[in-house]
Amino acid sequence: MNIAVLGAQWGDEGKGKIVDLLTPHFSLVARYQGGHNAGHTVYVEGRKFVLHLIPSGILHAGVRCLIGNGVVIDPEALFREVDELAAFGIEVGDRLVISDKAHLILPYHRELDVLSEARRGERKIGTTSRGIGPAYEDKIGRRGIRVCDLVDTPELAEAVRENVHARNQIIRDTRMDWQAVYEQLLAYGDRMRRWTADVSLLLDDAVRRGERVLIEGAQGTMLDIDHGTYPYVTSSNASIGGACTGLGIPPQAIHGVLGVAKAYLTRVGEGPLPTELHGAVGERLRETGQEYGASTGRPRRCGWFDAVAVRYAVRVNGINALALTKMDVLDGLPTVDICTGYSMGERTLDALPAEARTLAACTPVYESWPGWSQPTRGVTRFDDLPVEARRYVARLEEVTGVPMAIISTGSDRAETIIRRDTVAGHWFS
Ligand code: GDP
Ligand code: IMO
Ligand code: MG
Repeated sequence: MNIAVLGAQWGDEGKGKIVDLLTPHFSLVARYQGGHNAGHTVYVEGRKFVLHLIPSGILHAGVRCLIGNGVVIDPEALFREVDELAAFGIEVGDRLVISDKAHLILPYHRELDVLSEARRGERKIGTTSRGIGPAYEDKIGRRGIRVCDLVDTPELAEAVRENVHARNQIIRDTRMDWQAVYEQLLAYGDRMRRWTADVSLLLDDAVRRGERVLIEGAQGTMLDIDHGTYPYVTSSNASIGGACTGLGIPPQAIHGVLGVAKAYLTRVGEGPLPTELHGAVGERLRETGQEYGASTGRPRRCGWFDAVAVRYAVRVNGINALALTKMDVLDGLPTVDICTGYSMGERTLDALPAEARTLAACTPVYESWPGWSQPTRGVTRFDDLPVEARRYVARLEEVTGVPMAIISTGSDRAETIIRRDTVAGHWFS
């Protein structure tokens, strides 16, 4: 059975921990979109790993990690990550496979990202400045340079010359030399060649042999270019459709979708967030949850669990079950709130509006639930959770319409409740 793990909120839900946890049940882990804007944290016996491009299954020996065509790759970020893992004693070797069709992030994409944000002024997105948007723009504009293009050919030379020329027209105070970029790309190509393959074909072969594939999303549904809070989104399809297009697999190859959601929520960057908490409770969530970006270190905005948004993610992705993370961060709060709808003047909405400005004008409708004083940190059995925590989980299941198959009670692999009486029992036996 092949399972997709993806974010059901605004990113940073804890996908890295969940993917790492599930990897022993799979032989391949495949990333389908985004780039090194992602920061997926995995703790193993007190050691912290942050994966950006390489799938979060890499810490398990023998597992192959695939980067699909839907991902945009900054070669320098990739090499840095490979070298950092090696310094930790983890050899990527030939376990890493990169799609020959994946597009590249080039040095001028980073500059263009920063420039575009500066030009937006007040309306800035708050991007990670990694060049993600401009790289996808080139892909859609059919000017992109792909991994398979990194060979010494007149076609590559022409493409680089044209792209660098276009960049020099936009950024006039510094000029970039296309030949230097060309040489750089050839060097990237030399180092990447050993990992390059047709990921779609490789997955097809693996699935036919009965190998199991764990599919890893980056960002979250609310940051999806089509289904998120546009324009305050990333430039790829973080939702389930991206898994098919970004890996070259048919929908039938995906047998289950596991959404990941925090027991509250966070967002980094700009854009509407109806349940955002500006006062002491928001501050407490940020400090207890250590809510600072894994990639950029920026403080994350914190708020109560938004069931309207998660219900939407359940529908858009066909989520069968959720992994609820960071339950322990709510320990000790006198009450915990759940947003079950939005109100706008006289109207009540129970679905997400299309326009960011309408979402920004919504007021959350809350239910307030009693908190728990006994800690949940490190609990591994559902029945050992305080009764109020169990009630909170039960209510989240009602308002989202799906079971909470996994409950995470700490950042380590071991600090997890797997509820085998739910659909997770079939997936991870
Ligand atoms: P991702 O981008 O979805 O992989 O999530 P991030 O790694 O950016 O952010 C999640 C953060 O929460 C990381 O620092 C994790 O180590 C941490 N984390 C994950 N699950 C839990 C949990 O259940 N409890 C606590 N306290 N921390 C967690
Ligand atoms: P993971 O995979 C949280 C946000 C940025 C910004 C918007 C667009 O770790 O969950 P971009 O650089 O992608 O053009 O920025 O998307 N963003 C994320 N927020 N987690 C992420 O990844 C994110 N990747 C991008 O903060 O608001
Ligand atoms: Mg993250």
